[in-house]
Amino acid sequence: MKKNIQLILAAACFSTLFVACNHASSTKNGSDKDSTAAQAPQIPDSANFKATVQGKQVDLYTLKNKNGVTVAITNFGGRLVSLLVPNKDGKLTDVILGHDSLSGYQIKAETYFGAIIGRYGNRIGKGKFNLDGKSYQLDLNDKINTLHGGFNGFYKQVFDAKKVGDQQLELTYVSKDGEGGYPGMLTSKITYTLTDDNALKIEYSATTDKATIVNLTNHAYFNLNGAGTPTITNDSLKIDADNITPVDTTLIPTGKFEKVKGTPFDFTSFKTIGADIDKTDDQLKAGKGYDHNFVLNKHDISQSIATVKSPETGIVMDIYTTEPGLQFYSGNFLTGLSDGKGKATYAHRSALCLETQHFPDSPNEPSFPSTVLKPGETYHTTTIYKFSVK
Ligand code: GLA
Repeated sequence: MKKNIQLILAAACFSTLFVACNHASSTKNGSDKDSTAAQAPQIPDSANFKATVQGKQVDLYTLKNKNGVTVAITNFGGRLVSLLVPNKDGKLTDVILGHDSLSGYQIKAETYFGAIIGRYGNRIGKGKFNLDGKSYQLDLNDKINTLHGGFNGFYKQVFDAKKVGDQQLELTYVSKDGEGGYPGMLTSKITYTLTDDNALKIEYSATTDKATIVNLTNHAYFNLNGAGTPTITNDSLKIDADNITPVDTTLIPTGKFEKVKGTPFDFTSFKTIGADIDKTDDQLKAGKGYDHNFVLNKHDISQSIATVKSPETGIVMDIYTTEPGLQFYSGNFLTGLSDGKGKATYAHRSALCLETQHFPDSPNEPSFPSTVLKPGETYHTTTIYKFSVK
């Protein structure tokens, strides 16, 4: 059966454009179930990711479950490159923005596409914090603040990778004492597991040899209509959060909590992302749209804390986490980047990020849950992105 399909595809390739040929040939790596596989999006060619960076081997790893759900991950930045899930017609749809090659990720590292973020997710005001009577200065890579770990955060580091069976990848990275200004040698391990109920589970753990701060997350850009389609503003979103941590004009939390009720930030029941995004509101103005930490009402891994639904593909994504916060970023800084996978252009607000985390700037806000990690303790958090159709 598989051989027949390959022969037919080969014949078709000769009589059609090179682009189409390239597309069809990729299906030999995808589902070999039936002809729907021929229309399935492809994951990038792993050859485009093979290189030695910082003395370590970079590669592209693929996880696949019994339903054909496929995840491609590179150990450069621990990045999710592709995530293929079935739509309402059973066809696979790539719901993650990314690049076709390692160089795409190296050139555009600061969009953080699909990356593991460390040592500290989101911003730290003026890049400063005090711990046990000592003050620390981090990189200022976001004007006057530190963002996503600094100039050489985990998003640019090469992790050691170990594939465990067909559905799990373990990534480890040891960040040296003082790297990016952070104290302590931090040994971190991130495990991606693709389950047979179409969920991608991400477990983060870390230990340190000196007191430090840590806040790890993943920066996947989701578009449930398919990566490269124009907008996520028609998708519906629900977030189980009664409060946000409002920010100043540099996107640093003020330290207050603000009720979402009666504001554009009320996603306690399903609402389209675009419904209020352009309303006149100081918080929306600061973020040029949504770019805020939502204070989750519950963070018990057994209950979904946020759901996104695409009216076009019927794809539904539910998020479960042990973390107290969720950064909802509506892709406001996407500017029509034109080197997306398959030459896609990623327009303004053509994806959203839902980054599970501790709150931004926690080291400077004593009322926020602590992000301090001490020697002898183990940092451990879990987040699940689960896909279904409606
Ligand atoms: C985060 C930040 C945003 C933006 C994006 C990347 O989620 O909160 O302000 O920097 O990353 O563009």
